[in-house]
Amino acid sequence: MTTHAGESGNGAPHITDIPGERGLPIIGHTFDIIRDPVAFGNRMRSKYGPVYRSHSFFRDSITLIGPEANEFILMDRGKNFSSEKGWWPYIGKLFPRGLMLLDFDEHKAHRHIMTAAFKSGPMKGYLERLNDDIPSRIKAWGDKKSFQFYPAIKQLSLDMATTVFLGLDPGPESQKVNKALTDMVAASMGVVRVPVPGTKMARGIKGRQFMIEFLGSLIPERRGGDATDIFSQLCRAEDENGNRFTDQEIIDHMIFLWMAAHDTITSSVTTLVYELGRHTEWQEKLRTEIKSLGLNDDRVPFDKLNDLTLTEYAFKEALRMNPPVPAMPRQTVRDVEFSGHILPKGSIVGISTVATHRDEETWPNPQSFDPMRFSPEGGAKERHRYAWIPFGGGAHMCLGLHFAYMQAKVIMAHLLPHYEIVLPEGYSTQFQIMPLIKPVDGLPVTLKAIS
Ligand code: HEM
Repeated sequence: MTTHAGESGNGAPHITDIPGERGLPIIGHTFDIIRDPVAFGNRMRSKYGPVYRSHSFFRDSITLIGPEANEFILMDRGKNFSSEKGWWPYIGKLFPRGLMLLDFDEHKAHRHIMTAAFKSGPMKGYLERLNDDIPSRIKAWGDKKSFQFYPAIKQLSLDMATTVFLGLDPGPESQKVNKALTDMVAASMGVVRVPVPGTKMARGIKGRQFMIEFLGSLIPERRGGDATDIFSQLCRAEDENGNRFTDQEIIDHMIFLWMAAHDTITSSVTTLVYELGRHTEWQEKLRTEIKSLGLNDDRVPFDKLNDLTLTEYAFKEALRMNPPVPAMPRQTVRDVEFSGHILPKGSIVGISTVATHRDEETWPNPQSFDPMRFSPEGGAKERHRYAWIPFGGGAHMCLGLHFAYMQAKVIMAHLLPHYEIVLPEGYSTQFQIMPLIKPVDGLPVTLKAIS
């Protein structure tokens, strides 16, 4: 079924005024989107233009494609788009009142306090913990020689999240925390959305309850101490007027932060390792750059992070090719006009990061790995500011992006000087895009020790 602008016929704007289609009865385009969201987006865009309507996951939505549309929604100068209402159907039950699930003035006030935990002082503390913990992990990979990279880096990110984020030492307690948090993430992606016993959702809700009690019991001690993990920083964070978070707010933010950080870093470092395995000349360039810093025991000091220029370009290119958060949803809080279309109040509006990043007009030869796109001579300055949006933009722009760069650089600094990343002969993998980008086969790699 196809309709075009104006067909709804009555005075009030209606979503069916937007060009598009509803797809199959009940399921709409759900399976097309799960199978290949990029191909689906390209087809819809060529048929209906850069603003189109579709139906998936039991609801109608409007997708806006292109850097101008990204800027319009993410900058949201008119306070038209609710992030909370956009994200709620996906993660609201498990991660309520996380920063991305707050809007407008309330969001601004919370973000302002939380920013204290991401200033350079606390970041230096997190960096030291990363430098402490990552070498033994990488050595264990090297000893195994051949293994699947995706589950290995996922485990590393999970363990970093309990040490760097919560300040726990590895042990039975941190294992319980890992399990609770992993169950929560699995539940947010489960098909059954009510906690029927035995389902992922029931395990997720149980995990959340455990985290509330566990974190709650630690807060009094962490508020008073001087520990340098993110949880303790949040317990002590305050704005210039002395406003602090309540216990429940700390718990909600902490649980959300953990979720926001771990699968995204896992996904992006996996893409980087895959591309470095395919482009050994780039592996060598990064190795040379890292060695040129003359690091002591490979530890990256805070003031050297910015010297890893090529490493940063390569990470940015990995994030372009496979943005870990492939789409960002919002809901309109009033009728909004964009490019001659009225997006009615209450509509789900989506930004497609992956379509933006693979658009040939902005990114010539989008399938090829070319980190120099991010250099000044590669056109970085001339490109639209919203043509590269792996971390979003505007009020909800990722608060942990510097942490992500830092962790990726520390991993590379401990890995590349000692090992060559080798992929199986003639190998290429497929990346599943929804709900988070990951290689379908776990990415088999061999680490060859460099003598
Ligand atoms: C490569 C890694 C990462 C990627 C690609 C990523 C991506 C994103 C994106 C796209 C958003 C905005 C979503 C939206 O506007 O709808 C976001 C928000 C957020 N991210 Fe990240 N993220 C990463 C790592 C991290 C890390 C390491 C942390 C914490 C240490 C973190 C904390 C957050 C928080 C708190 C928000 C919500 C910000 C707000 O609503 O004001 N992220 N992230």
